[in-house]
Amino acid sequence: MELETGMTKEERASISGALSKLLADTYVLYLKTQNFHWNIHGPEFYSLHKLSEKQYEEMAGAIDEIAERIRQLGFFVEGSMEAFLKLSTVEEDHAIHPKLAYLEHLIKAHEMVIRDCRALGTLAEAHSDHGTVDLMGRRHLFHEKAAWMLRSQL
Ligand SMILES: [Fe+2]
Repeated sequence: MELETGMTKEERASISGALSKLLADTYVLYLKTQNFHWNIHGPEFYSLHKLSEKQYEEMAGAIDEIAERIRQLGFFVEGSMEAFLKLSTVEEDHAIHPKLAYLEHLIKAHEMVIRDCRALGTLAEAHSDHGTVDLMGRRHLFHEKAAWMLRSQL
């Protein structure tokens, strides 16, 4: 059956495409946060280990919600690491860093995702896609809070 929700297929496709990019960036940031959780070392180990655990657990739920939003808009999800790495602008960490470098990389990644949310929120608003607007509001808020908490450790 065709979707008759008041948006054209092209409109749904443009939002779905932007959601795919957000999904990829969130997935890479999820792994990046786990990498930090596993490898962070030094005097503030415990608090940073716990903070990063809370953050990656939240993102695990969000990844599912973003992917399911793509399905609700009528498209399939490319759920592979290969596809995510192609789409993502967030970069993986390939080395063990000192605390400050780790924090800076994570803050920059959260800021990239905030920019994704801002652009996607505007696009969804233009098409009165209130479901996606609501999701973007929650994702935007989470990443700003996460970036603030990490920045406060600098
Ligand atoms: Fe753990």
